[in-house]
Amino acid sequence: MTATQPRPLTTDDDWWRSAVVYQVYVRSFADANGDGIGDLPGLRNRLPYLRDLGVDALWLTPFYTSPMVDGGYDVADYRDVDPMFGTLADFDAMIADAHTLGLRIIVDLVPNHTSSAHPWFVAALAAAPGSPERARYLFAEGRGEHGELPPNDWESIFGGPAWTRVPDGQWYLHLFDPAQPDLNWRNPEVRAEFEDILRFWLDRGVDGFRIDVAHGMIKAEGLPDVGFGTLTTGQRQVELLGKGRLPYFDQDEVHDIYRSWRPILDSYPGGRMAVAEAWAETPQRLARYIGPDELHQAFSFDFLDATWSADSFRKVVDTALAESTIVGAPTTWVLSNHDKQRHVTRYGDGPDGLRRARAATLLMLALPGCAYLFQGEELGLPEVLDLPDELRQDPAFLRTGESRDGCRVPLPWDGELPPYGFGPAGSDRSWLPAPATWRALSVAAQAGVPDSTLELYRAALRIRRGHPALSADAGGVTWLTTEPGVLAFSRAAGDAVLTCVVNLSGAPVVAGGHGELVVASAPLTRQGDGHLLPVDAAAWFERR
Ligand code: BGC
Repeated sequence: MTATQPRPLTTDDDWWRSAVVYQVYVRSFADANGDGIGDLPGLRNRLPYLRDLGVDALWLTPFYTSPMVDGGYDVADYRDVDPMFGTLADFDAMIADAHTLGLRIIVDLVPNHTSSAHPWFVAALAAAPGSPERARYLFAEGRGEHGELPPNDWESIFGGPAWTRVPDGQWYLHLFDPAQPDLNWRNPEVRAEFEDILRFWLDRGVDGFRIDVAHGMIKAEGLPDVGFGTLTTGQRQVELLGKGRLPYFDQDEVHDIYRSWRPILDSYPGGRMAVAEAWAETPQRLARYIGPDELHQAFSFDFLDATWSADSFRKVVDTALAESTIVGAPTTWVLSNHDKQRHVTRYGDGPDGLRRARAATLLMLALPGCAYLFQGEELGLPEVLDLPDELRQDPAFLRTGESRDGCRVPLPWDGELPPYGFGPAGSDRSWLPAPATWRALSVAAQAGVPDSTLELYRAALRIRRGHPALSADAGGVTWLTTEPGVLAFSRAAGDAVLTCVVNLSGAPVVAGGHGELVVASAPLTRQGDGHLLPVDAAAWFERR
């Protein structure tokens, strides 16, 4: 671990507009007590690493009391820490240290559903149909002569029907696992409860919230079928996510909820913010989640989904920037998270994937707005594709055969043997095994090695933090004319100009006339007045 100096938090209420936020998947970040599971004290010990990496804020995935059916996205107590992750006192100590180091803390809020172990759901099961206890969730009578068929045709995102029948014959809705019953957000009691939960964490000093399934809380009146007409043969409903209309997602009334939350966030000092994990049919509908009276940001998943081509990136960048101009909020870029295959692997895996991932990072970090990093991408970690099935824990795996465990493997910190310093000295436990190839990818193996991915991130983040043309006040993107397959754009602040060039063309290209080289994702050679940019490489140049 590198020694570090305290860094005061900036006093800027708009800090989130150009922040780099690092996603901590708490369970897999650092384990302080040696049980093989990451925890809050482990995170606290490693805060200096994150400060030195140069990020502005951390987003912590759920660490609340939970049976962990869905990695903590099944919350049984929204106001406490699961013993697996520590205690509330550990949380308080962690956030105090983070703030001293100049790191803001964003926590995950899971409002669409609770755990089936939540006292509300336990009470709902014990109560009769039609009771106030059941009215907090979405219980309904089944179809068919004896109510033996689900109330409608909705499918769970994790596969299979979105309804489960209880012994008295009613069915309850769960858009995810049966252990994640959906709340009834038309019930004022639910709304009041979550306003109180927001205040609970704001009072503890959190700087923001990542809103899980932010598009899901309101379901269409009458719970209508999706209908076969909406789908093509063999298509699962989840395939319409972000592409089509579904009666259980992105309903207009969901925006009333955010309009009621915003005054709560605004009533606290220091720029408390919220970012939506929302999927909508079009970028225009996604943009409706953000603005001065709703949420501050929404992830641009189209950027994550872009294929490795100049046209694909150019299109999603232009669309996202245009929407952000209309709503007056910054764009929110992301390449990887705990639900998606890591981008090294998406871009081809092996050396090709890593080369492209490094170039994509320089592209992302030069764009205006906020960028979210997923833990381990700064080490160039690939997806672990060959986890033994019996170790996989993603509930989607059992229902669909698809699993998100491969991006959740504990981080390699140092040492010669798995789990590479994930736990305290001498501990050999980790809830998922790290592959032998990760020895060379550990933090210790990369720190101080000039062309390592870790040092590339550190350099890029340092430049981004200090360069006027990459600041929140800098200008937008000016695309430059290039040869086909090459992306080049400049941003300016006064006389300072920063140009980012990304070579997606399949052949080396000469980049010249943009000033001094500042950082590159691969070694460049000089060619005449310019530089030869290899295939799948990106570089930043500056003129002051
Ligand atoms: C989270 C997933 C989770 C799901 C259900 C998603 O948005 O990112 O990890 O399985 O919500 O809470």
